[in-house]
Amino acid sequence: MAEVPEKPEVPERARIRIREMELDDIPKVFELGEDLFTADRWPSLYRTWNQYDLIERFASDGEFCLVAEDDDDVICGFALGTLIVKRNSKWDYGHLLWLGVRPGNGGRGVGRRLVTKLTELFIEEGARMMIVDTDVENEPALRFFRGNGFGNESQHVYLYRNLTTHPEYRKKMAEEQAQRPTPRRRRAVKSSEPSFVGVRVGTEDPPT
Ligand SMILES: CC(C)(COP(=O)(O)OP(=O)(O)OC[C@H]1O[C@@H](n2cnc3c(N)ncnc32)[C@H](O)[C@@H]1OP(=O)(O)O)[C@@H](O)C(=O)NCCC(=O)NCCS
Repeated sequence: MAEVPEKPEVPERARIRIREMELDDIPKVFELGEDLFTADRWPSLYRTWNQYDLIERFASDGEFCLVAEDDDDVICGFALGTLIVKRNSKWDYGHLLWLGVRPGNGGRGVGRRLVTKLTELFIEEGARMMIVDTDVENEPALRFFRGNGFGNESQHVYLYRNLTTHPEYRKKMAEEQAQRPTPRRRRAVKSSEPSFVGVRVGTEDPPT
């Protein structure tokens, strides 16, 4: 008779627990976010993911910062949210700002559990609406959110202006340039003396 593989005693998804984020988790969460929100994949997410915002979130909205942790204490996911209380409105909003699951742990319900827990916390605190957002091209996340009950999609457009071509920017640069000490006339370098070649100082190439 063919051997029936033993069923694990604990279902696989039970081995990941969702808990509130702690101070020690911040560097790990930041690193995981750096791996997930990369410039080549989601430029708009990459631009705004930074450690200062993460620390600020933790300080001001700690109860809405969740992590998913496995048996080996590895952080395999996180959800960071904030409660938006409008003074003249009966509607408080829960905003899921960041959600990430370590790629090796994807498709195991970690994201769903993080969102479920955060939703419950928002409801407990009186939120009547929950908002999520992501890059318009982040199809996997959009499918995930739609599958988790989110809809009524509307688009938000980012517009950019290169400020290095702005007259005020140019003026500031010119002023800074004028304040720099004028380099002394170079004396001829004897061939036996060391020379530093190829060091460019004060280039003003605009960022790409
Ligand atoms: C989006 C993300 C959080 C999903 O996390 P996850 O743990 O893989 O998702 P889950 O396993 O909980 O999936 C829950 C449901 O969504 C579906 N789903 C998840 N990823 C999906 C995908 N790429 N395509 C289609 N459906 C998907 C699953 O099939 C599952 O449905 P089911 O419960 O009916 O089977 C994760 O892929 C991620 O971290 N992506 C990169 C970061 C990101 O884009 N974050 C969101 C914007 S801030």
